[in-house]
Amino acid sequence: MIYLDNAATTPPEPSVLETYTKVYESFWANPHSLHKIGERAEQLLEQARSQVTTLLDGAGYRAIFTSGATESNNLAIRGVAEMYRSRGNHLITTNSEHPSVANVMEYLEQRGFRITRLPVGADGAVTVEQVREVLTDDTILVSIMMVNNESGAINPIRELAQLLKNHRALFHVDAVQGVGKIPFSLQECPVDFLSLSAHKFFGLKGSGTLILRERQIIQSQMIGGGQEFDLRSGTADVPRAAAFAKALRLATENLPVQHAEVTRLNQIIHQRLNGIDGVIINSPETGSPYILNCSVAGIRPETILHGLVKKEIYISTVSACSSKKTELSPIILAMTGDEDRAAHAIRISLSSKTTESEIIQFLDQFESTIAELR
Ligand SMILES: Cc1ncc(COP(=O)(O)O)c(C=O)c1O
Repeated sequence: MIYLDNAATTPPEPSVLETYTKVYESFWANPHSLHKIGERAEQLLEQARSQVTTLLDGAGYRAIFTSGATESNNLAIRGVAEMYRSRGNHLITTNSEHPSVANVMEYLEQRGFRITRLPVGADGAVTVEQVREVLTDDTILVSIMMVNNESGAINPIRELAQLLKNHRALFHVDAVQGVGKIPFSLQECPVDFLSLSAHKFFGLKGSGTLILRERQIIQSQMIGGGQEFDLRSGTADVPRAAAFAKALRLATENLPVQHAEVTRLNQIIHQRLNGIDGVIINSPETGSPYILNCSVAGIRPETILHGLVKKEIYISTVSACSSKKTELSPIILAMTGDEDRAAHAIRISLSSKTTESEIIQFLDQFESTIAELR
């Protein structure tokens, strides 16, 4: 099998699964219990928490363990909106966010918040200037993703963090498709909130974090016993936290080498696709090398996808979260303004484990599948 749908999810790394089961066997006690075995579990939880922030160069930050980035995004955005409504009711985002941000914004809009959705340019990203122009004294939050999950477009997060340093608005970044793949440091890029999801970097599903400053207060979305610094009630899942920290360590420790190799593989795909009649690349040159989006004129993307499935090659049409709902990729439409391209979009997504031989086999099969369908 050749798996090129890594932006949807990645398989768990065996050593991460091993950490999970080993920790579960030995540290199953409730980390909030006051007895010895509870304290040992708590120590491990805190160790995982500080390992996560250390890996991201995040002195002064804290990681809250969640069930995934959907929860992290909800907690950050609703948590700020509900806590700081008396300061202002304006939020800024883009028109190309993941549904776990876009639909939360819609939810807030229905409850009286004013939402500005900045249109992305042809490169799939927004500019610092666009954000500067719409910031007001009433703005309480800016939420902009690091890397787009369909196009691979990269937003200027570091420059935006600089801009927002001098503004009272808080800055949330959905970094699900970025952290663990492209270099990132919280010291260089001091955002207020960062959402991560382990299953995008060979960790477990149902495992995420929201990273925020140690003294940051927001409205908890889960009311209960006040665990996770009053931000996420419920008995903490120590094995999952340990597995998260392990997956993040594995993803980040060799990152520059992996990034260079994925960039090389991406260029091989680029070159070959450019030579196939009717194929147009949608991903920007400046995007993440892990995601390559293209459109094939005149052939329905599902037909290509199914043709490849027969050869045990797995790619995707629009993102897994919306692929059952609509046939147009809203992201590619927002970038290109071209309905035909948006209707024919295909996403090829790589991982640090993708090999050149897999890429060559995929390209051969992709080309022959298109020729057969034509
Ligand atoms: C950019 C982005 N944000 C958020 C999510 C949601 O992550 P999770 O599956 O952990 O809820 C995804 C997953 O596809 C994503 O790609």
